[in-house]
Amino acid sequence: MLKVLWTSWCCLTALGAGYLCLALPGDGAASPMSTAFLPGETTHGHHQIEMNCNICHLPDGGVTDKSCIDCHSEDLKQSRDTHPARKFVDPMKAVLLQKLDAQNCLSCHVEHQEERTHAMGVTVPVDYCWHCHENVADDRPSHRGMAFSSCSNAGCHNYHDNTALYENFLSRHTGEPAILAEPQRPIRKFQQWLADSNGQSDKQLFAKDADAPLEWKNPDISEAWAVSPHAVKGVNCSGCHTDSAAVDAYAIGWTQTPNHESCVACHESEVGGFLEGKHGMRPAGGLSKMTPELARLPMHAAAAHKSLDCSACHDPHKPDLQFAAFEACRSCHDDQHSRSYEQSSHFQLWKQELAGETTAGSGVSCATCHMSRDSDGLVNHNQNANLRPNEKMARTVCMNCHGLQFTLDALADADLKNNCYSTAPTASVKSLQMVKDWFDSKKKK
Ligand code: HEC
Ligand code: HEC
Ligand code: HEC
Ligand code: HEC
Ligand code: HEC
Ligand code: HEC
Ligand code: HEC
Ligand code: HEC
Ligand code: HEC
Ligand code: HEC
Repeated sequence: MLKVLWTSWCCLTALGAGYLCLALPGDGAASPMSTAFLPGETTHGHHQIEMNCNICHLPDGGVTDKSCIDCHSEDLKQSRDTHPARKFVDPMKAVLLQKLDAQNCLSCHVEHQEERTHAMGVTVPVDYCWHCHENVADDRPSHRGMAFSSCSNAGCHNYHDNTALYENFLSRHTGEPAILAEPQRPIRKFQQWLADSNGQSDKQLFAKDADAPLEWKNPDISEAWAVSPHAVKGVNCSGCHTDSAAVDAYAIGWTQTPNHESCVACHESEVGGFLEGKHGMRPAGGLSKMTPELARLPMHAAAAHKSLDCSACHDPHKPDLQFAAFEACRSCHDDQHSRSYEQSSHFQLWKQELAGETTAGSGVSCATCHMSRDSDGLVNHNQNANLRPNEKMARTVCMNCHGLQFTLDALADADLKNNCYSTAPTASVKSLQMVKDWFDSKKKK
């Protein structure tokens, strides 16, 4: 079945290529012809790149996990994967691999099979932990009588990322209050995000210094730019508008619509993060920019044709980080969670900070949670880096301000996702108490 589909897809592509190039409005719109060859819906994680079949498929149509590893090995390394392939090399573990080949991504994640796909593209039944860990209760009395599925769906464990759930970590953070004594998110450190100045001098420039060709000069733009950090630090119009490919055609090689590539020389880490997440993964995969029209998540209809580039959040001529952190997001995102943010006490804290009533770093915007600053103060422009499983947000975000018990309870409470963390969590994750009892019992022995 696979081979037949694949061969006809390849032949049709070859035949139709010329026609398609003329008939299709860029690669942005899904081609009805190639979607017809998708055997089923692609996962939430990959739907944006589904039209680029050979990003995953080999020329003969098969898939190996090499493609998965090429794109994901870095994320899994960062989350200190609990079950990497190398843990199964030991011959003692070979029996386990007969139950489930855990060295192959495709044992648990296949594509285009919506009827058996769970969150995070998982296509194994929920009780699969049990195949390998059925004896867990033998030396952990606390685990006796637990449901087969509860290992992975009760907010206690994940398969790959357990960085917020390790025993020693839990034990260090037991007994913390819901809100810590000095709740503050990391804030910007001095200028350290700049890779280099891309050959531009760092002398302050003024509107009269604008070096755009005459026909592109525009007083509104020049005045906005003149008070922006770019002019202040000597970055002229040509710093972004030079089209290196066209330098020969025109003396200056001016491009009217620079994209993220024009920023990379000075803002390498921001561009890198952007390309790894849902906002930038299409251009990273050689496709046109993402637009809200192509999204599966609910978006404002008016934003349908906005293209996702740096300028979706930053007006390049007068970047405003506070606008980027909330208003920009809401101009596109219109799901229940995003709409509810304005009812949350986090939003009140954010408004108080902007009004100068509280200290810098006490507010919580969309970007506080979704584009957190790391310990070096750099903004992570991959808003998927800490999104799922959501415990990834515990260390990177919530624990700057909240105790661990409160954080895990809030993240495990599905209702709070919908109301954007506007009310107190109702259930309690038992891991911290279990870890405390476990360490206490070991001390007694
Ligand atoms: C993000 C990676 C990815 C992309 C992009 C992708 N696929 Fe797949 N596809 C897979 C995986 C994984 C499987 C399952 C392979 C397996 O079971 O061994 C699969 C399976 C298939 C199958 C076989 C289904 C079956 O029931 O055996 C077909 C046909 C297929 N894909 C077609 C396509 C076409 C056509 C495109 C582009 C329009 C495409 N795929 C894009 C990852 C991808
Ligand atoms: C071209 C790069 C690329 C390839 C190839 C690729 N992925 Fe992905 N994958 C991404 C990006 C980008 C995302 C979306 C951002 C994110 O969730 O990190 C994603 C999302 C996911 C998610 C969902 C995460 C979530 O939050 O829902 C899983 C699981 C996943 N990929 C596994 C795989 C597996 C397994 C394969 C091999 C069949 C694979 N990926 C192939 C880039 C890739
Ligand atoms: C034994 C089953 C299993 C295998 C094998 C497996 N995964 Fe996963 N994967 C899961 C489960 C379950 C989740 C859901 C989150 C969790 O429990 O960690 C997940 C989530 C993910 C995610 C999104 C969440 C995150 O922590 O980043 C990515 C990306 C991912 N897997 C990639 C891979 C890749 C790449 C491989 C192959 C090297 C692979 N997985 C092999 C079960 C598996
Ligand atoms: C294919 C077999 C297999 C499956 C499926 C599996 N595990 Fe494991 N697990 C292992 C092996 C092997 C180890 C490593 C044990 C060792 O190092 O001695 C391990 C280790 C662990 C550890 C200890 C991690 C550490 O810090 O060393 C935990 C916790 C765990 N698994 C939980 C789970 C959960 C929860 C699931 C389901 C989401 C799961 N496992 C699914 C085989 C498996
Ligand atoms: C920090 C980089 C940067 C600098 C510096 C910069 N621009 Fe731009 N400019 C851009 C980007 C990016 C776009 C495309 C915006 C879009 O696609 O929405 C753009 C668009 C434009 C446009 C066309 C669209 C519009 O907004 O009307 C003009 C004209 C323009 N710039 C003129 C200038 C002039 C004149 C200067 C110097 C005074 C300048 N730019 C400095 C990045 C920059
Ligand atoms: C030639 C180098 C250079 C290029 C190219 C460049 N920038 Fe900048 N950018 C800077 C400098 C220098 C600063 C100011 C640093 C400071 O305030 O000390 C800055 C600051 C910023 C800021 C922070 C604004 C603030 O309020 O502090 C944003 C956002 C930004 N740039 C976005 C962009 C975007 C988007 C592009 C591409 C369209 C771009 N930059 C291209 C050098 C550059
Ligand atoms: C989804 C919206 C969004 C997109 C798209 C986006 N940014 Fe940002 N960016 C932000 C937010 C929000 C902040 C400030 C976060 C904060 O202050 O906590 C920021 C901060 C910055 C800063 C200042 C860094 C600092 O440490 O203060 C630079 C430079 C920057 N972005 C460049 C870029 C470039 C280049 C791109 C394109 C690759 C880009 N951004 C795309 C939202 C975005
Ligand atoms: C120009 C429109 C636009 C702007 C502005 C924008 N986004 Fe997005 N965002 C999107 C689109 C489109 C997607 C991909 C949705 C999909 O694939 O279904 C997305 C994806 C996301 C995701 C990943 C969702 C998932 O399920 O994997 C998060 C988180 C996110 N955006 C947060 C933000 C935040 C925070 C801001 C502001 C700092 C922001 N966005 C600004 C359009 C936008
Ligand atoms: C207190 C932290 C916090 C704030 C503030 C916040 N979010 Fe989220 N957001 C989360 C968490 C946690 C999730 C993941 C929930 C889950 O999957 O359980 C999430 C999920 C999302 C998703 C993915 C939704 C989906 O169904 O897949 C989008 C898009 C998003 N947020 C956008 C936004 C926007 C836009 C704002 C501001 C208007 C915002 N968020 C404010 C923590 C936050
Ligand atoms: C910058 C600090 C800060 C960060 C980061 C932060 N919060 Fe909060 N959060 C607060 C403060 C302070 C309050 C209490 C506000 C009040 O009651 O006026 C609060 C309130 C809450 C509430 C509502 C409690 C109630 O009873 O109404 C929830 C739920 C919550 N936070 C969850 C989270 C989660 C989950 C994260 C991480 C994704 C997070 N917060 C990140 C500071 C923060």
